[in-house]
Amino acid sequence: HTVVTDQPAKAVPALPDAQTVTEVKHYTDRLFSFRCTRPASLRFRSGEFVMIGLMGDPHPETGKQKPLLRAYSIASPAWEEEMEFYSIKVPDGPLTSKLQHIQPGEEIILRPKPVGTLVHDALLPGKRLYFFATGTGFAPFASLLREPQTYEDYDEVIITHTCRDVDELTYGRDLIEDLKKDELMNELMGEGFGDKIQYYPTTTREESPKMGRITTLIENGELFEDLGVPPLNPETDRAMVCGSLGFNLDIKDLLEKAGLKEGANSDPQQFVIEKAFVG
Ligand code: A2P
Repeated sequence: HTVVTDQPAKAVPALPDAQTVTEVKHYTDRLFSFRCTRPASLRFRSGEFVMIGLMGDPHPETGKQKPLLRAYSIASPAWEEEMEFYSIKVPDGPLTSKLQHIQPGEEIILRPKPVGTLVHDALLPGKRLYFFATGTGFAPFASLLREPQTYEDYDEVIITHTCRDVDELTYGRDLIEDLKKDELMNELMGEGFGDKIQYYPTTTREESPKMGRITTLIENGELFEDLGVPPLNPETDRAMVCGSLGFNLDIKDLLEKAGLKEGANSDPQQFVIEKAFVG
C-alpha cells in the first residue's frame, strides 16, 4: 500500500448530537442570533436552556478534540420546528470567539437535555407577568413571549429590557414588533394577544427615550407610572428575571421587599430567576 503521510492518522470525530445551523444574524459587534435544526426527540418547556457548543481545538500532542459546551437559553418557543439562540460574542471567550463565525450549513453540538427555572410551572397563578431582562438575558423571554400559555395564564405581560446601548435592544424590539403583527402568532396566541404586551426598553450608557437601570426605575416608581400599573403586589404580580449575577441579586432584593417569594419547579411561588449566559 502507499504511504501518503508520515503523520499518524488522526481519527476525525463525528460531532455528537450534531444539529445544522440554518440562519445567522448579527446585531452588533457584541451580539448575534442563530437558528438550527431541532432534534426530533427533543421536548422542552418555553424558557428552558440546553448545553450547546462546538468541538474544541485538537490537543497539540494527542490530537484529541473535546466538545466545548455552554448553557444557552432556548430563544424559540416549545412549539417551533427550528431552534433559536441569542448570544454575546466574547473576544477571548473559548466558545463564543468561534461560535460567532458560524455559518448556515455548519454544525453545532446540542445536548438534548433541557432544564431551567424560567418556566410557567414554577409560578403560582397571577394577573400580571413581568419579564425583567438585561443584555442577552432577553433570550428565555424571546421563547416565553412566543408561548401561547403566557397569554392564556395572564391578562398583562410586561417585558423590560435594559442594555448599555440602543443597538443592543434591536433583537428584542424587532421580535416583539414582528410577533404582534404575525398572522400565525395571532392565530396561535389568540387574536389581539399583542395588546397584552407592554415593552419597556431602557439604556444606561447611550442616550435613548428611557434611560436608567430598571432597578432604579422600580425603586423610584417610574416604571409603574410610565406603564400605568400599580406597584408590585404579591397578590396579582408574577416575575421572571434573567440577567447578570449582580442584576439578578438586586432585582431579587426588590421583589422580596415587595413581598414576592422565589419559586422553583418543585415549589411554585411568585418569581423565578436565572443567570444569563455570559460567555
Ligand atoms: P450599567 O451600564 O449601569 O452597568 P452588562 O452588559 O454589563 O451585562 O449590562 C447590561 C445592562 O444591565 C446594562 O445596561 C447595565 O447597566 C445593567 N446592569 C448591570 N448590572 C446591574 C444591576 N446590578 N442592576 C441593574 N442593572 C444592571
